[in-house]
Amino acid sequence: MVVAGVTGKTGSVVARAIQAAPDMHLIGGLSQKHAGTSLGGLWGDSNVNVVLCATLAEVAIPYAVLVDFTEATSAAERLYEAIERGWDLVVGTTGFSSEVRQELAQRVADKGVGAAMIANFSLGAWVAERLAEEAARFFPAVEIVEGHHLGKHDRPSGTAKAMAERLAATLSRAPGDIPVHSLRLPGLVAHQAVVFGSLGQVLTIRHDVHDRTAYVDGVLAAVRQIAHFRGRVVTNLGEILEHGMRPSAQQS
Ligand SMILES: NC(=O)c1ccc[n+]([C@@H]2O[C@H](COP(=O)([O-])OP(=O)(O)OC[C@H]3O[C@@H](n4cnc5c(N)ncnc54)[C@H](OP(=O)(O)O)[C@@H]3O)[C@@H](O)[C@H]2O)c1
Repeated sequence: MVVAGVTGKTGSVVARAIQAAPDMHLIGGLSQKHAGTSLGGLWGDSNVNVVLCATLAEVAIPYAVLVDFTEATSAAERLYEAIERGWDLVVGTTGFSSEVRQELAQRVADKGVGAAMIANFSLGAWVAERLAEEAARFFPAVEIVEGHHLGKHDRPSGTAKAMAERLAATLSRAPGDIPVHSLRLPGLVAHQAVVFGSLGQVLTIRHDVHDRTAYVDGVLAAVRQIAHFRGRVVTNLGEILEHGMRPSAQQS
């Protein structure tokens, strides 16, 4: 695995989990600020033999899964380059334009690589999406409130956009028809409430991430399963989790 954004808030947590997983190898890391530095030195762990690179072109490995937690502008070119090299992708970075998403989908299909581009890798967010879909069948008046730390660049969050799209599809409404309210405040990490209003009652489905380890299980599942999804972009974490729970997937 090569992790882009390996020194970032989320990328560092994910990279440490990859390093600790018995069935995975962290073989590369990308960082602009720390290029040329030993990751083991940064982590104070002599078992980590990775020297950080500034660009993917410098990573002289024929194949890896690229795990990307950076920012959308620089990530697009890096993902195109990885696809060209025949690498599979697990992308947590959010904020891509619809044009970039379409271009990525086309290139993934043309090259036949695997790509998981999932707005939220936490299991709680996926369960919340399923619960909200069910609730929307009975409570059509719905709005989303999402809150994140001050460092988050995109607004609304990728998670809120994905939730709004799913709710709109359930309610046969246009995606922009579900209002999304965004908070960017100190003290927040990643939070979302889907609020359903009806006569005399309010139903709230809420998910709070207090720590970025919340994303680890979903990312590792995607890394393990991505080779089974080549030729298209997977955007629903549930597909990966459910595939991983099949007895045949657990044996392979
Ligand atoms: N899908 C999910 O479940 C999920 C969960 C959490 C976060 N995210 C998303 O993941 C992304 C990162 O979030 P974060 O909170 O971890 O951010 P962060 O702490 O700011 O980390 C971003 C990383 O990107 C790298 N970076 C910035 N500009 C770059 C460039 N031009 N080229 C290459 N690398 C660059 C930075 O490293 P250097 O400066 O060293 O290059 C840094 O390590 C965001 O898009 C966020 O929305 C997704």
